[in-house]
This record gives sequence, structure tokens and C-alpha cells, in this order.
Amino acid sequence: MKETQLVGVQKTLSPVLKAKALDNRLPDPILGDTYAEQVMRRLDPGYDQRRFGTSQVGLAAVVRAKAHDDWARSFLAAHPDAVVLHLGCGLDARVYRIDPPATVDWYDLDYPTVIELRERFLPPREHYTLIASSVTDPAWLDRIPRERPVLMIAEGLVPYLTEQDVRRLLTSVVDAFPTGRLQFDTVPVWAWRTSRWDPSLRVYDARFHCGFNDPAALAAWHPRLEYVDEAPMNDSPILMAKAPANVRRLYRFLNLLPGLKRSVRIVRFRF
Ligand SMILES: C[S@@+](CC[C@H](N)C(=O)[O-])C[C@H]1O[C@@H](n2cnc3c(N)ncnc32)[C@H](O)[C@@H]1O
Repeated sequence: MKETQLVGVQKTLSPVLKAKALDNRLPDPILGDTYAEQVMRRLDPGYDQRRFGTSQVGLAAVVRAKAHDDWARSFLAAHPDAVVLHLGCGLDARVYRIDPPATVDWYDLDYPTVIELRERFLPPREHYTLIASSVTDPAWLDRIPRERPVLMIAEGLVPYLTEQDVRRLLTSVVDAFPTGRLQFDTVPVWAWRTSRWDPSLRVYDARFHCGFNDPAALAAWHPRLEYVDEAPMNDSPILMAKAPANVRRLYRFLNLLPGLKRSVRIVRFRF
């Protein structure tokens, strides 16, 4: 099965998966995701024969995945009865990496084409449900049990939605559950505005539809929502500790430019 079945924004799952597969080949990986190489090979058997194959510049995306994993683990340790909404999951193996206890119900949501690939490439498990839907179709939320703490994870998804859709999503999740955490990442307004010319997105025929210079301010969208904190990405100590020297040099240089240092903001909120 080839990557070509995916269209537009769905194809953006591929570079992050490649980055995770390449990370797993490092002597001391950041994420150490053994599924990534396996799934990437099936998605695109020759993925590491092209130029990207020799580069580990995508490691910042792996740092982002690790930040989301670490936050999720700490929330689930405190709330073993939680429901997890992993939105825009792509082919990411988070549920297998975290391996939550059977008391947690985990939902992975993405477009039907992506979910079909997940069913082929990744094993089923107990207390784990796939939802084939656009996140913007409010009907999917009716399938989730309420009255339990919720953890919403949206990694690499929010910039592809309109601000109106993001607002509807966040407020409807807060309205639906008694308590919980929302963790996601955003891009600044300049990255959104210039995304139609960004070669790394054009290649996938995708672009961003929203950007926020102060993502913490999204807490104002709902009276119960409260900003918690932000995790570093391009300047993360773990990237500087574990990435190969050429990658560290590149990020040190990029991070001299404040706009690039915070070109992705990983944030979490509670309610
Ligand atoms: C950059 S990829 C990230 C995938 C995964 N979260 C990861 O980090 O590996 C973006 C993902 O969001 C999904 N996506 C984008 N818009 C969506 C929507 N409206 N509904 C559901 N999924 C969406 C895409 O299909 C894709 O899998």
C-alpha cells in the first residue's frame, strides 16, 4: 500500500512518522518508538532512500511527541479512570508507547482513509477505539462516555483547522466533561499567513488555517478553561542532549531567531 492513497493534509502524517522512525535508529533515541519504523516501511517502503532519509532535522517533531507523551503519562497516572481523545492521530503509536491501564478508554480519531491504514498497520487492543471522522464533525463526540476525566491530545492538528473550528472543538470538549486536560500545539500568526508558500507544506498540498501569537489566551474561550504551561520544542534540552551534532548546530542557529525558536508552541490547559 502506498502513501498516495492519502490526500492533502492527511499526507502530513508521513514526515512526522519518518522523523520517529529515524529517531529510533539513534544509539540513544529521544522517543524510541519501535512501531514507527515498522509502520513507515509499510506506508512507503523506500522512505529512507531519498534525501530526507539521511537527515534528522525532523527530530524536533519527535521532541514534540515526547512532550505530549510525558504530559499524557502524568495525567493518566493521576486519573486512571480517564477517557483519552487523541485527535488527528495519524499513524502515531502513542497508545502503544504509553500502554495505559485497562481502566483508561482511549479513542484515536482521524479521517477515514487514515483510520483504514491504522487498521492495516497497527494491532487492535482492549479499551481502544478508532473513530473515522473529521474532527470538525461534532457527531463523533456523542460516541464518547461522559462523567469521567478527559485528556484531549491534538498533536500537529490545530494549525490545519480554522480558528472557528478550534474554538468549537475546545469549548465542546470542556462542556462535555466534568474535568480534564487539553494538550495541543499551535503555530504563530506569521507561520499561518505564510503557509501557502511554505515548501514543506506545499509538497503535501496542505496549508495552515489558523495561528496564535499567544496561545495561552485561548483560555478566555471558556470560563472553566485555564492555561497551565508550555513545553519547549526547538530549544528543548533533550534535543540538544540527544540529536546528532549537525542537527544541534542547525537548531542552535535557528533558535537565534525568536520567531523560529517558538515556531511551534506546545501548550496545555485544564478545566
Ligand atoms: C501533521 S499530522 C500529525 C499526525 C499525528 N498526530 C502525529 O503527530 O504523528 C496531522 C494529522 O491530522 C489529521 N487531520 C487534519 N485535519 C483533520 C480533521 N479535520 N479531522 C481529523 N483529522 C485531521 C491528518 O489526517 C493527519 O493525520
